[in-house]
Amino acid sequence: MTYIVNDNCIGCKHTDCVEVCPVDCFYEGENMLVIHPDECIDCGVCEPECPVDAILPDTEPDMEKWVEFNRKYSELWPVIITQTEPLPEAEKMDGLPNKLETVFSEKPGKGG
Ligand code: SF4
Ligand code: F3S
Repeated sequence: MTYIVNDNCIGCKHTDCVEVCPVDCFYEGENMLVIHPDECIDCGVCEPECPVDAILPDTEPDMEKWVEFNRKYSELWPVIITQTEPLPEAEKMDGLPNKLETVFSEKPGKGG
């Protein structure tokens, strides 16, 4: 089992989640984070920390796509272990539909 970050993180990137992860398994893209499914120890402490409810366990329905998405980008992006400021549009972006198609960036973030 693992937890994953879904598309509601896109454009928000609050990063409260990285502060609580005991194994530092968050990876940073330009406008979202992902969790490495093989490094996550399923502790669940990050889930309630996300202000936009973008973190879910893979036991929810239809999670395979998100596990693979998180795996793919965690292997391409740098690790992030320190909380930073949310993205400037974070409030406006919460709950916006189709963010994966319209807002998502494949570029890596800075990490750190
Ligand atoms: Fe880290 Fe625990 Fe969240 Fe997994 S469930 S990403 S180990 S805080
Ligand atoms: Fe994203 Fe929520 Fe973490 S918005 S960066 S999953 S706190």
